Amino acid sequence: MREHGEVSDRADSGGPWWRDAVVYQVYPRSFQDSDGDGEGDLRGIAARLEHVRQLGADAIWLSPVYPSPMADGGYDVADYEQVDPRFGTLADADALIAAAHERGLRLLMDVVPCHTSIEHPWFAEHPERYVWSPRDDGPPNNWIASFGGPAWSRDPRTGRWYLHSFYPEQPDLDWRRQDVRDAVAGALRFWLARGVDGFRLDAVDHLLKDSQLRDDPPASAPPVLPEHADAERLEQIHSRNAPDIGGALAALREAAGDTLLAGEVYLPWRQLAPYLAHVDCAFAFELLHAPWEAAAIRAAIAAALQDDSSGEQVAWVLSNHDFPRLPDRVGARNARAAAMLSLTLPGAVFVYQGDELGMADGPGGDPPHDRAGRDRHRHPMRWDDDLPHGDFTVSEAQPWLPAIAVAGGGVAQQRTDPDSILHLYRDLIALRRTLGAGLTFLGEDEGVADGVLAYRRGDEHLVALNLGDEPRPAPSAGRVLRRTHAARTPAGLAAPVQLLPGEGFLAMI
Ligand code: GLC
Repeated sequence: MREHGEVSDRADSGGPWWRDAVVYQVYPRSFQDSDGDGEGDLRGIAARLEHVRQLGADAIWLSPVYPSPMADGGYDVADYEQVDPRFGTLADADALIAAAHERGLRLLMDVVPCHTSIEHPWFAEHPERYVWSPRDDGPPNNWIASFGGPAWSRDPRTGRWYLHSFYPEQPDLDWRRQDVRDAVAGALRFWLARGVDGFRLDAVDHLLKDSQLRDDPPASAPPVLPEHADAERLEQIHSRNAPDIGGALAALREAAGDTLLAGEVYLPWRQLAPYLAHVDCAFAFELLHAPWEAAAIRAAIAAALQDDSSGEQVAWVLSNHDFPRLPDRVGARNARAAAMLSLTLPGAVFVYQGDELGMADGPGGDPPHDRAGRDRHRHPMRWDDDLPHGDFTVSEAQPWLPAIAVAGGGVAQQRTDPDSILHLYRDLIALRRTLGAGLTFLGEDEGVADGVLAYRRGDEHLVALNLGDEPRPAPSAGRVLRRTHAARTPAGLAAPVQLLPGEGFLAMI
């Protein structure tokens, strides 16, 4: 186990620190409020670092905390080199970075290079940095925004039409321009100088689009990764994922040096090679979207591991602030199996705050904050059921989204319950450190029943999960290290003969 107060270089595994790392995603607005305004902030995060350390995570990824009009929850950035007053100050950011490092935790910032907020001063002062329609009478093509509707809007100030891959409040920067590359690279350097350990790069499949602005053709089949219904009607071959993406990414890589770049590239894994040439790892979204069924899950994992079963460039993710939470997506019954799955895959794994409690979606905001309906996945973290608002904020405050209860209890309650999903996360993260390299699936000929997903890690470890709806015979195994549904007591470690739906184990072979 890592010692308190030490950021190790994982000399034991001989690779960069993020190899097989666990990265904990903090959604700052919903993690911990320290000043009673009902929104989480940097001081709140610093006060809760012990939870992340005890979980055993290696790093924290902070969703954006930059000044923002919050049209897209902070993914509309009005200044890359400042902190929004709602989250605190640059001094608070410095203090958080230092406090994380003291606990042996790395810290990743979220960089949103594709677009700025329409309120970023560049939009008025440097309009040349954005993508404009060459015609003054309307959009030059049929491109659709990721949240639906046309990807072009009229700038009322100039009357010209600008491109926005997401909300109209998020005009796209022109990444073929050197000044854009230099300016955003400068922001990366700014945060590196303050001590951060790397970046999650937002929406980089949208960074570069066709320079000729050609129409997207109609789609002939549904996309591999689901999109907004409007966007699914087109085959997005020109509106994103331009073949000359390398130059833009190289500029980000140069600024980042050898710190971590984790790319959010919303494309099937087989299309990621041009991105993986410059970023260290990318999210494997096919697994996040795979139906909860053994063959589909196996295919999604295989897609990301086919060239390299070490998973060195894979960032596994089963949930984040954009998608329904695990109990809602895979079923409450399967939340523990989902934890065992993601935490036993080779490569980096990202865990979204609240997953470790089995947190489900809530009702969202009324009126909604996010027009795309994602409030439901962003309710405040549940610290203690016995305190007002689950101890997210002080009792007099009004949380920005309702503080909702979690079926298994808050952190304080689950901490004292060895059967809790929180203990499962902790145990799996600790056991993850011991797993062998690479992943090999086991099949029917090795006694694996239909509906059961089973794989070996290295030569010594076996994972088996019943992803089906019926009880299934368990594959034979040696010493059990952890079961999804029983505490790590001698009784809990007996080898099961049968796996109920949603059950699984990690064992020696
Ligand atoms: C990413 C973020 C999402 C945001 C979008 C536009 O997908 O995860 O929250 O809306 O990029 O920046």
